[in-house]
Formats: sequence, structure tokens, C-alpha cells
Amino acid sequence: AALPALLARMPKAELHIHIEGSLEPELIFKLAQRNQVALRYASVEALRQAYAFTDLQSFLDIYYAGASVLLQEQDFYDMAWAYFEKAKADNVVHAELFFDPQTHTARGVAMETVMRGLSRACNDAHDQLGVSGALILCFLRHLSEEDAFATLEEAEPFLELFIGVGLDSSERGHPPGKFERVFARAKELGLHRVAHAGEEGPAAYVRDALDLLGAQRIDHGVRSIDDPALMRRLAAEQIPLTVCPLSNLKLCVVGTLADHPLPALLAAGLVATVNSDDPAYFGGYLNQNYLETFEALPQLGPREAYILARNSFDASFVSDLRKERWT
Ligand code: HPA
Ligand code: ZN
Repeated sequence: AALPALLARMPKAELHIHIEGSLEPELIFKLAQRNQVALRYASVEALRQAYAFTDLQSFLDIYYAGASVLLQEQDFYDMAWAYFEKAKADNVVHAELFFDPQTHTARGVAMETVMRGLSRACNDAHDQLGVSGALILCFLRHLSEEDAFATLEEAEPFLELFIGVGLDSSERGHPPGKFERVFARAKELGLHRVAHAGEEGPAAYVRDALDLLGAQRIDHGVRSIDDPALMRRLAAEQIPLTVCPLSNLKLCVVGTLADHPLPALLAAGLVATVNSDDPAYFGGYLNQNYLETFEALPQLGPREAYILARNSFDASFVSDLRKERWT
């Protein structure tokens, strides 16, 4: 009984949350009405019933459909603000939010609209909730290198509004190497670099994300468990993995939470963290991820709770100066 309370109340950072994946069905319908966007689903209930995923792609199709209701700056603000209120309730004190500009610019939404809405929510979350937020621009890996370059260029006028770049969407068939030059350019611009790798794709994609993209963190990375040499490297170099247990369960990356490799990753000395990925779609925000994962895995106790919370701050991109005040 003490462990769930500890998990819920401990201060933590969240480093793997797609802000479009925090869009709850109720807000999707509210925005659809506000913006006169037609939805393929008749009701909130019908939409929720469609959330039965078999793999990453079956989720992405619905996730991109949900994001189609976002048109105005205020829509992006409302979405991010709703997330920050959930984060506050889970004792998240710092969150690094992924966003997918290509999902919006492809529909005619201006980069500035996306940027201004999200960054205004980050500022208000800091001032009104005491939650610090930062933005990480993700490239959709199913689109071309050229499209990613154009997106980075469109974002350059807003460089002070985001801290890094990431890589998401359909992993299989879209290896990290496809974006080597875009990530080199992002580094030149002084941006942090992260990438989804080893979620559905092989451990080799994790190695490629490090070697070809200069990734400072790996998102998911759970397939690293298949490659002992890679595991030793991730531990030696203290490369953080942003693990998302409920996402892995819902997208059938693992069969049950009891089979999740998180305890093995921690036991091998990796800087693993717990995150929610797309909480509106996968059945829970950050504390729900901690609670269900610890409940399913008796190897995880108070010591691991402390390590995971500490890892979440160590793996974050907040300045070392601010980190000193936290520890
Ligand atoms: N994997 C890849 N792309 C994504 C995800 C994910 O878990 N969530 C949102 N975009
Ligand atoms: Zn993700």
C-alpha cells in the first residue's frame, strides 16, 4: 500500500509524451465542433471503441485522424494546457513534449500557429502550475528527408521556442540513416537530438540512432535487450532510454506488463525512465504507467522507484545548474 502512494507523490520528469497523443476524445469532439471539422466517428464512445490497436501503424492511423481537428493557435494551447494539468496532478515537475509539425503543416496550418500555441501553454504551465515544459520537434520518418529538411527550415525562425529534434512515426522500413543529414543540421543549429528506435524496429536501429543521428537519448529502445553488446554500450555511455510501458502493452510490443524488459534494463545499469507516450490512447498518464508497471513486476520496489525518478531528471535536457537545485 505504501508503494503506490510513493509512486504517485514522488516528483518526476516526463521525457516521452507526444502532445498530440494527449488529445482526449472529449477534446477532439469539442475542437471538431469549434472548427467545423468532420469526424469519421459519430460519438466520443465510438471513437474510444476504435482504440483497439494491434501494432504501431494501427495506432498511428487513428492518432493522425484525431490530430486533424487542430487548426488554430488556441487549439494547440488547449491541448497542451490539458496535458500540463494532468502532469501537475501526477507530480510531474518537468516535461519535454514532442510535437509533430508535419501533421499540421500538411493540412495548411502554419508552423507559427503550432509553435505559438504550444509555447504559450509551456509558459503558462510554468507560471501557473509550477511545471516546466520544453518542446522537441519530431520529424515523421515515413515522410522524406526533403520534407524533414523543409520542416526544420520552417522552424528556424522559432529556434528559441524548442530545445531539440526527434524522430517518430512508422519505424519499420524507415531506418535512422534516412535522416542523418537532417540531424547533422539540427546539431549545427545547437539543438538536442533524440530518436525513436527499437520499439518495433530492431536493436540495430538503436545503434544507428546513436552513430548516425548523434541521438542523446533513445525513445523506447526496448529491443536493445536482444543485443548484449549494445546493452553494455548503453550502460557504459549512460544513454537514457525513455521507456513507455502502457504504450508497449497496447501496441503489442510486449504480451503482458509482466513480460516487460524494464527490470532487466535497470538491472543492466541502463538509465531507463518511465513515460506515457500517448496517454489519451494508451490508457493512462504518467502515474498510471508507474502504478501498473510496478504492480505487474514484483522485481520493482521503492529502490527502483527512486532510481526511475532520479533517471528522469538526469536524462532531461534542463541545464545542469537547475539540476543541482533539484538534487
Ligand atoms: N512510436 C512512433 N511514433 C509515434 C509514437 C510511437 O510510440 N507515438 C506517436 N508517434
Ligand atoms: Zn513515442
